[in-house]
Amino acid sequence: MTRGSDLPRTRIVRALEAAPGTRLRVQGWVRTVRRGKEVAFFEVNDGSCLANLQVVAGAGEPGFDEARDLSTGTAVDVVGTLVESPAKGQKVELRPESIEIVGRAAPDYPLQKKRHSFEFLRTIAHLRVRTNTFGAVFRVRNALAYGTHRFFQERGFVYVHTPIITSSDTEGAGELFRVTTFDLANVPTKDGAVDDAADFFGRAAYLTVSGQLCAEAMAIGLSDVYTFGPTFRAENSNTSRHASEFWMIEPEMAFCDLAGDCDLAEAYVKFLIGEVFDRCAEDMAFFDKRIAPGIVERLEHVASSSFERMSYADAVAALERSGETFEYPVGFGLALQAEHERWLTEKHVGRPVFVTDWPKEIKAFYMRRNDDGRTVAAMDLLVPGVGELIGGSQREERADVLEAAITEAGLDPEAYAWYVDLRRYGTVPHSGFGLGFERLVMYVTGMTNIRDVIPFPRTPRHCAY
Ligand code: 4AD
Ligand code: MG
Repeated sequence: MTRGSDLPRTRIVRALEAAPGTRLRVQGWVRTVRRGKEVAFFEVNDGSCLANLQVVAGAGEPGFDEARDLSTGTAVDVVGTLVESPAKGQKVELRPESIEIVGRAAPDYPLQKKRHSFEFLRTIAHLRVRTNTFGAVFRVRNALAYGTHRFFQERGFVYVHTPIITSSDTEGAGELFRVTTFDLANVPTKDGAVDDAADFFGRAAYLTVSGQLCAEAMAIGLSDVYTFGPTFRAENSNTSRHASEFWMIEPEMAFCDLAGDCDLAEAYVKFLIGEVFDRCAEDMAFFDKRIAPGIVERLEHVASSSFERMSYADAVAALERSGETFEYPVGFGLALQAEHERWLTEKHVGRPVFVTDWPKEIKAFYMRRNDDGRTVAAMDLLVPGVGELIGGSQREERADVLEAAITEAGLDPEAYAWYVDLRRYGTVPHSGFGLGFERLVMYVTGMTNIRDVIPFPRTPRHCAY
C-alpha cells in the first residue's frame, strides 16, 4: 500500500501552480525517464494540462530505485513534496517520498519519445490521447462543448434532445444509414420490394442526418432551443473534412429571420474563440507553435472583426472574376466546391464570410423561398482553412409554399404532414443553423484532418474500436 494514500490526488495542472513545500499526491502516466547513477528523473502527465510534472530522486533517497525502474507509459502514483526547480521551463518539481508502480507498460509501448505522424497515430487511436497534440485537441474540444452550453444557456436557449433514430431525411440528400433488425440474409419482401412494414418500427428507419425538423417543432413553443448531438451521413467521400459520424450544434429560433440567424452564428463563433483562449491558453500556444503557426493571432483578429456577408450571386461573380483556375466549374446554380469556398474566405475576403441567398435547386426543401422565386434564404458560413463551418437558413413558414416544396423535392407529403402542421397552427418566421463540431475544433486548433479531432473517427471503410 502506498504511504500517504490518505492524501487525495492532485491533478498536475494544480500541482504545477502550487507553492514549493506543498505535499501532494499525483497519479498519471510516465512520459520520459532519465536514469543517472546519482539522480533519476521522470516526467509524469495525467492529461489535466500539456505540461508534465518532473519527479526527481537522488541516490539513496526515497523513490530512487522505483524511479530507475520506470519506463514510458507506466502508470504511477506518487506522493511527495514540491520544491523549486533549478531547471528552466518549470517552476516546481516533486521530491518523492513514495512511488507506486500501478501498471507497467509492456516494452512494445508504441509512444516512445520520438514524434509520430498523425497517420500512424490514427492506427493507435486508443493510445494517441496520451500525446501532447491529442491531449490538447481533446481539452480544446471539451472547452468548446462547455462553451457551447454556456453561450446558449446564458442567452435563454433551451437544450433539447432530438431523436437519433428517425424516419425523415432532413437534408433530402439521401445519405442515410438504415437502422433495421431484418436478417440481412433473408429480408422480407412484398410485391418484389423490401417490406418496410415488417421491420422493427413498422416502417423504414435511419440514423439522423440532422435534428433540425424536430428542433423546429420545439422552437415553436419554447422560442429558442438548441441541440448538440451526433449526426450520421453515409456520404461516400473520403475527404479531410467529412466524417460519417459527427457532432452538430443546431440552434433554432422562433420570430427570427436570416439576418438574425447570421448574427447569432457570428456571436457564437466569436464567443467560443474567447472561451478557448480563456480556458486553454497553454494548449492554444502549443497549436500556435507546433501545428499552425500564427493561429492565435488569426483567431484573435477574427474575434474582434465583423464577418463579411455576401450573396451567393456576388460570390459566384467574384469567383468568375478571380482569374483562378479551379478544378470544378463556377456558375450561378452550381454548388460551391471546397476549392471555391477556400478561395472566397482565404483569398477574397481573408476572414469568415456568410454566403447567403442560394439558388433553391441546390438547397434543402425547408428553406424559405425568397421573393425573386429562384433563391432561398439560406446561409453558409465559410472560414479560412476549413471552408463550410455552418449551414443554416430561415425556414419556410408558409404552409402552401412548404407543401409545394415538399412535392417538388419528391418527398412523401404524408411523412412530412406533422412538419406542415407547424405552419398551420400558429406559424412564425423562424431560423436556425447547424455547426459541424469537428470542423469547429479543426478551425480553432489548426488541425487539418477531421480524423484527428474526434477520438474514434468513423469514415468510409473505417469503423475500428
Ligand atoms: O449544412 P448541413 O448539411 O446543414 C444541416 O444539416 C441543417 N439541417 C442545419 C440546420 O440548419 N439546423 O450541415 C451543417 C454543418 C456543415 O456546415 C458542416 O460544418 C457540418 O455540419 N457537416 C459535416 N461535418 C463533418 N462531416 C460531415 N460529413 C459533415 N456534413 C456536414
Ligand atoms: Mg451545408
